[in-house]
Amino acid sequence: MPVKQPQPGDLEPIERASRDEIAALQLERLRHTLQHAYDNVPHYRAKFDAKGVHPSDLRTLADIAKFPFTTKADLRDNYPFGLFAVPREQVARVHASSGTTGKPTVVGYTLKDIDNWANLVARSIRAAGGRAGDICHIAYGYGLFTGGLGAHYGAERAGCTVIPMSGGQTEKQVQLIQDFKPDIIMVTPSYSLVIAEECQRQGIAPEDISLKVGIFGAEPWGEGMRAEIERKLGLDAVDIYGLSEVMGPGVASECIESKDGPVIWEDHFYPEIVNPTTGEPVADGEEGELVFTSLTKEALPIIRYRTRDLTRLLAPTSRSFRRMGRIVGRSDDMLIIRGVNVFPTQIEEQVLRDTRLSGLYQIMLSRSGHLDEVEVRCELQPNAHLSPDEVSELAKALQHRIKVVVGISTRIQVADFGTLPRTQTGKARRVWDERPSQV
Ligand code: DLL
Repeated sequence: MPVKQPQPGDLEPIERASRDEIAALQLERLRHTLQHAYDNVPHYRAKFDAKGVHPSDLRTLADIAKFPFTTKADLRDNYPFGLFAVPREQVARVHASSGTTGKPTVVGYTLKDIDNWANLVARSIRAAGGRAGDICHIAYGYGLFTGGLGAHYGAERAGCTVIPMSGGQTEKQVQLIQDFKPDIIMVTPSYSLVIAEECQRQGIAPEDISLKVGIFGAEPWGEGMRAEIERKLGLDAVDIYGLSEVMGPGVASECIESKDGPVIWEDHFYPEIVNPTTGEPVADGEEGELVFTSLTKEALPIIRYRTRDLTRLLAPTSRSFRRMGRIVGRSDDMLIIRGVNVFPTQIEEQVLRDTRLSGLYQIMLSRSGHLDEVEVRCELQPNAHLSPDEVSELAKALQHRIKVVVGISTRIQVADFGTLPRTQTGKARRVWDERPSQV
């Protein structure tokens, strides 16, 4: 498929600005953000004070390294609204994603934040080659997850006709794609392949699918998967990155003309790469943990947020902004299962709620076709004498709790006491991830 090159006027001036202009804008916005956080969020004020730094200590961009990091634990400790920097009445919307414990990580947006977010997703859609008048089918989940609504507002802002399909109902997805003939699809890469298989099952050839471009993210994927999606759906596939704590989809997004990694929208987010162990900044091009400071957010300014995503910063190519490499892994134990963020402790919590289970468990991850499969193995207490019917009831109840609370479908295996392997080293291994690597 011929790739449309951006025409003059397709890009915002800042996308072509000089690095000096970008740095000047970042410095001004960074100063404002630090002051806003310090003045309006007691948690940030306390952390800055404890480290002996004040917003006025930021004289150059490199001075950001003097300021304390923010982690998921900071969001959890201030659950639900403690990090908001505006009165709650000015928060127009909240979203949430998984936390390390049962409590979700809550994020908030003012109307202005939602406006900026829509503009950045619209910019991402244009970078992907989408234009006003295109039909955009959105199959990211709508709801507390930022994927659906984030994509939706951006596609509307880009001037598209939006089909808010959300995830699931694969046959219906295909029917709407056949009937409405969308130009763009926004969906997780793994679910796009499920849609592709349904097309194949119905005898629809890739060249008969109207889609021209797909904007895929929310989970790791690689060049192999890009080639497969492009072949099976007959479109150009680009990568969109984001996380709820920093905004949602559209923190960075790939350009169709270069397909060389998501361009970080550096006028709204200041990226750093740090050594995941020491927290020391590393040079561009070196691998480490991606850290973001928001530059324009009102409701939830986020200072040096440790994403736990491991990647590199790359020199600008198609835009004046720097790019990020593929996410090569995470520095914590968060799993991404069919696009849903899951911490093993969330599953543990559900296992422990049944006192007839010993509390030992294993999470076995595999991939069947294109979709992640999860099996949770647990075992009975030594004194639990259950009939086969009772065991199957117990398994069903656990499966239901995990589905409702954690949001993923699992297969449950309940074994007799003493059957699961015991650790010899003191550190239990909970997760066996047999999914092929995506990178
Ligand atoms: O996944 C936001 C999003 C929605 C991005 C739709 C793109 C498209 P969270 O649920 O907070 O937000 O999960 C964020 O997902 O830290 C990464 O580990 C992973 N992730 C997101 N995009 C990509 C990507 C949304 N393009 C976490 N490649 C992040 C690899 C990704 N991993």
